Amino acid sequence: MNNFRLLPALAVLALALSACSKEPSNDDVAMTVHEAMTEHVDVIADEVWAIGNESIADNALIDNALMDDAKWAKLADAATRLQGAATDLGGFEHYVVNRPGVTISDEDVPGGTTSEVVQKHINSNTDDFRGMAHALAAHAGDIAAAAKAHDGAQAGKLIGQLDGVCESCHLEFWYPQQRELVEAAMKNT
Ligand code: HEC
Repeated sequence: MNNFRLLPALAVLALALSACSKEPSNDDVAMTVHEAMTEHVDVIADEVWAIGNESIADNALIDNALMDDAKWAKLADAATRLQGAATDLGGFEHYVVNRPGVTISDEDVPGGTTSEVVQKHINSNTDDFRGMAHALAAHAGDIAAAAKAHDGAQAGKLIGQLDGVCESCHLEFWYPQQRELVEAAMKNT
């Protein structure tokens, strides 16, 4: 009889212990930074680049003759979704780079950055991180506006600059150790 009474008490103790042994973790977020990048920002940016690349003229601007209403609408839609994804990223309550066990690209190669290091960068300068997410949102919003206005010169210029907007955040928060290298490479392109 006694044994039976002991059981529930033990079960409660076991539960309490398992709760205690868990690391105090923040992995209860709806979306990690890594998920925002790989499932949203990067995927949508690729759509923007794809439409841009299809219609690029010799001078790196969009050739209006290669566009039609459907393409302009597609570009406006993709840019607006990119704006939305970046706005969402800028508004996260708190930032968790990755869930346990998930790695970021090149994390394992020499000179690569681990999620923990990126997490430290973001924690120590969260306001700038938010600011850069909102800068991307603003840039994407400008692309959407140019697409709605069927302004090929402006849309082409902004799409050409998009990569730099991504890089400026990556250089600050992902791989600041490679800043000189990347900046030199970007100058040469
Ligand atoms: C506000 C900052 C910020 C902006 C803006 C930003 N990123 Fe990122 N991105 C990060 C951080 C931090 C990482 C590294 C950690 C991770 O993977 O989440 C990252 C990682 C990535 C990764 C690598 C994921 C992997 O490990 O394979 C890709 C791809 C990526 N970003 C694409 C983009 C593109 C494309 C843009 C622009 C359209 C962009 N990012 C803009 C912060 C940003």
